[in-house]
Amino acid sequence: RRGRRRPVRVYMDGCFDMMHYGHCNALRQAHALGDELIVGVVSDDEITANKGPPVTPLHERLIMVRAVKWVHDVIPDAPYAITEDFMNKLFNEYNIDYIIHGDDPCLLPDGTDAYALAKKVGRYKQIKRTEGVSTTDIVGRMLLCVRERSASDSHNHSSLQRQFSHGHGQKIDDSGSGSGTRISHFLPTSRRIVQFSNSRILRLARELGDFLLVGIHTDQTISSTRGPHRPIMNLHERSLSVLACRYVDEVIIGAPWDVSKDMITTFNISLVVHGTIAENMDFMKDDLNPYAVPRAMGIYRRLESPLDITTSTIIRRIVANHEAY
Ligand code: CTP
Repeated sequence: RRGRRRPVRVYMDGCFDMMHYGHCNALRQAHALGDELIVGVVSDDEITANKGPPVTPLHERLIMVRAVKWVHDVIPDAPYAITEDFMNKLFNEYNIDYIIHGDDPCLLPDGTDAYALAKKVGRYKQIKRTEGVSTTDIVGRMLLCVRERSASDSHNHSSLQRQFSHGHGQKIDDSGSGSGTRISHFLPTSRRIVQFSNSRILRLARELGDFLLVGIHTDQTISSTRGPHRPIMNLHERSLSVLACRYVDEVIIGAPWDVSKDMITTFNISLVVHGTIAENMDFMKDDLNPYAVPRAMGIYRRLESPLDITTSTIIRRIVANHEAY
């Protein structure tokens, strides 16, 4: 029967609202417990009923989850709690062997454990929750950006910030006010970077689509172009998030603002691309264009962005959500 073993299929569910590397690390660990990871993405209605409206609607959450390289398939509109019916569907229709969740308690509004049934039948496994990052924490960081914009609004936003930190036992530490990156205590080890990296052999190809190298700017570069409180995530956090994407082969951790001739030669770059949507396109004016060199070399291409969301869009949604509820 050698080589004919049925793949072990594992299931992890969640909201995956404003997807972050903590979610990616959970998916990575879940995948390591089996061969194929099937992810249940909870519906907008179920999230609203259990913890309030999500910032990112299901169709955006699905794009994010599907892009994570450890995900084999998704089940859209998954329920928040694993009922007996849904559990049987997972076992019988989806051939799931184990149901997986982080080691943080996951309670339903009535105080019961959302995974009690799966535990009872011995089909539950646990992974380690990633410290130092959560959707609540990211909301807090984003609100630091708007808080100081208008003095009359500041009361509003700090109460909003308190509301988001409420119940998560995690105060948003804004002692490092002046740079949004200082509130992060996250430091990746080289092992974590390797875990997130592709095991695929580095293949230096010259055609579009064979090898994608992503340059990630330093925190300093970003705050000098986008202003204080940016970036929302520090360089290490952003690097892990990008590395978790299935389409990315490698990242440059701390790429300069301008794409220089030197970089193009060193990394053997055959094409430089940028989307049509960005926070601020002013820099594309000729004298400031960071892509002037690749453009002059005829190796620059603009790609139509499939969605028009940016960090600012997300911040506006968070503030609007608060006003509506
Ligand atoms: N998870 C994790 N580490 C984090 C955040 C989430 O391991 N820092 C795991 C959860 O334990 C769960 C999965 O990611 O197994 C999906 O999480 P989700 O339902 O989105 O969880 P939340 O705990 O609500 O995440 P957040 O607080 O960041 O919204």
